[in-house]
Amino acid sequence: MDRAVLGIETSCDETAAAVYSLQGGLLSHRLHSQVALHARHGGVVPELASRDHVSKLLGLVEAALADAGLEGPELAGIAYTGGPGLVGALLVGGTLAVGLGLAWRVPVIAVNHLEAHLLAPMLEPDPPGYPLVALLVSGGHTMLVDVAAPGRYRVLGATLDDAAGEAFDKVAKLLGLGYPGGPALARLAASASAAPHAFPRPMLRAPGLDFSFSGLKTAVLLKVRELEASGPLDTVARAGIARSFEEAVVDTLTGKALRALDATGHQRLVVAGGVGANLRLRERLAAELAGSGRSVYYPRPEYCTDNGAMVALAGALRLAAGAPGSREVTARPRWDLEELAPVWPEDDR
Ligand code: KG4
Ligand code: ZN
Repeated sequence: MDRAVLGIETSCDETAAAVYSLQGGLLSHRLHSQVALHARHGGVVPELASRDHVSKLLGLVEAALADAGLEGPELAGIAYTGGPGLVGALLVGGTLAVGLGLAWRVPVIAVNHLEAHLLAPMLEPDPPGYPLVALLVSGGHTMLVDVAAPGRYRVLGATLDDAAGEAFDKVAKLLGLGYPGGPALARLAASASAAPHAFPRPMLRAPGLDFSFSGLKTAVLLKVRELEASGPLDTVARAGIARSFEEAVVDTLTGKALRALDATGHQRLVVAGGVGANLRLRERLAAELAGSGRSVYYPRPEYCTDNGAMVALAGALRLAAGAPGSREVTARPRWDLEELAPVWPEDDR
């Protein structure tokens, strides 16, 4: 039987379902974004997120199964995001997954959302081997991880305050770009020919692999106030700020990622999470790594941001490695990568 696994993602503001098999690859994936729902509130409203997951999730699961040409009982398992994320939102996915698992008599497994992001490049035709360094840059997390193999993670550094995506979102809001601001800010930045402001490169000079983005955000706020003192900012001025901010973030992420490669001696870098969709970051990393013998891997942009495919993949790997299913619903606002068991325990010998 094909080892197809259904993946369910409801950790934040995306409702998604996908079917993946280790033999056949991605068989289907469906996604509903809640952007329009939260936009008028300027950010994610957890209660609205949970309710919208409730109303959309079952339909997406049915569609993903139909696209894959499978009936529920034919699945090898169901994987859902068990955390980290918004607890109410996580409960929606976990409850449905456990209920369907009981009805269809298939094992159900909770997947760590960060692990799912890290493994997303394995959805691509030319996936990286191991070991590698992963730069995980999402709305909620910014971290560098030494990945010896799937499931074997050592966190090398993380943000002390705001995540990179969060900083993108906050600066976007400051520039009147609404929510979610990252992609809009990147578009505005691309319209500027240069970066006119020298914003700080947070912690780039400090030793180590931790990040901090709240000081940069404050520097941008002060610059906006200073410029606004002589009248409202036109598009060119706003684009200049966006570009200068983006350069500061890209410099910081690139600098620390290179430092992590040096520190570990690994030749492969994986960039995952929503900010991994940023084209300027991709350009800079490509330029820095060119000719160095080191390679950088990304999931395609739709698998950088939250999706069900990466959850199905992570679940398929864990189930294939013998991880047990559970009928208890896992919904953990916090869940560190280093708590995870190795995917292939025999690798530990
Ligand atoms: O991984 P993700 O979908 O959700 C979390 O798990 O947090 O990441 C979403 C984050 C948001 O902060 C969004 O603004 C940011 O990724 N983002 C971007 C871009 N596309 C999404 N930031 C910068 N440039 C982009 N092109
Ligand atoms: Zn995410």
